[in-house]
Amino acid sequence: MLAAATELRHAEQVRKYLSAKKLLHPDFLPVKELGFIYFPLAKKAAVPSAKVVLVKFSFPAKKHQPALDDLLKGKLTVRELTLLPRSQEIVGNLLILEIPPELEKKEKMIAEAFLQANKHVATIVRKQRMHGGVYRLRKVRILAGKKTKEAVHQENGVKLKIHLENTYFSARLANERLRIAQQVKPGEEVLVMFSGAAPYPLVIAKRSPAKMVYGIEINPLAHRYAIENVALNKLEKKIRIFQGDVREVVPKIRKKFDRVVMPLPKTGEEFLDVTLRKAKPGAIVHLYAFLEEKYFAAEAKKIKEICKQQGHPVRVLRTVPCGQFSPYVFRVCFDLKVLR
Ligand SMILES: C[S@@+](CC[C@H](N)C(=O)[O-])C[C@H]1O[C@@H](n2cnc3c(N)ncnc32)[C@H](O)[C@@H]1O
Repeated sequence: MLAAATELRHAEQVRKYLSAKKLLHPDFLPVKELGFIYFPLAKKAAVPSAKVVLVKFSFPAKKHQPALDDLLKGKLTVRELTLLPRSQEIVGNLLILEIPPELEKKEKMIAEAFLQANKHVATIVRKQRMHGGVYRLRKVRILAGKKTKEAVHQENGVKLKIHLENTYFSARLANERLRIAQQVKPGEEVLVMFSGAAPYPLVIAKRSPAKMVYGIEINPLAHRYAIENVALNKLEKKIRIFQGDVREVVPKIRKKFDRVVMPLPKTGEEFLDVTLRKAKPGAIVHLYAFLEEKYFAAEAKKIKEICKQQGHPVRVLRTVPCGQFSPYVFRVCFDLKVLR
């Protein structure tokens, strides 16, 4: 086989050149021998700082990740393959498999295939019960791989340790968290109600010029992860996390905020009174809801009415769909400006 041979000290420079010119053989790994490194070549070409030679030894083969369809071929019918959702949520190295009821009997085999096809995934779990209850928790069942429900997830430059059953977390909201962080102006004091394991406080503290971010979470276990996550990201000087019901905790914080985030789509609206009492005139409120698109305008009108009745009229700056709850129902964020 043809190879580009070079002294080890030129290895990186030669590798970069070969990679940029697409000259590296896709199926084999380089070999080091007696102070030289041999890069297997896909075709003959002159390579600066290297000699192109015909070598007698064989190069170790690269292990290719098998494609999911190849792994499932012959085990699922063509129809069954079309039923299988390809885009699954990945939290750290845990993959949360969604399988339609028709494929339930083959769940273990499907899980093994997902495990083999995703080299960064160590565990496959299946959703057992949707998010529910005050803490918005779900149940999952391990189908394949390492027996753990805890993971360290990375998003927007922060690390988040979470437990799939003890804390609410959605990896799919990464862009939305960044959208909020990008609106924060220098020196803002931000309140994140319903902060969970602290993904919003962390992303805002890390990716914005906020002065201080406060987080309030009622679930003691999620709160413990939040505290650990603040330390994990060395953001103790920019984040304060409190455990308890926002109705009790927020009134005790002796300050008003420039921005309040309310990521509790099912019932967040019921806490607008708490928010408005702590929002500075001109403050921005991000209120989430689950709604069909046809109800967006009516909901915006209802929110304006509630706020007016509380003595704090708001302007709806924008209505931002930021996720899919079900085929017709969106997770939507109302960005509100408190007028007084
Ligand atoms: C939809 S989850 C969002 C968690 C987190 N912000 C995130 O995006 O991952 C809502 C969170 O609000 C918490 N929660 C519900 N009611 C609360 C209340 N009255 N006071 C404080 N937290 C509350 C739940 O325990 C849950 O962790």
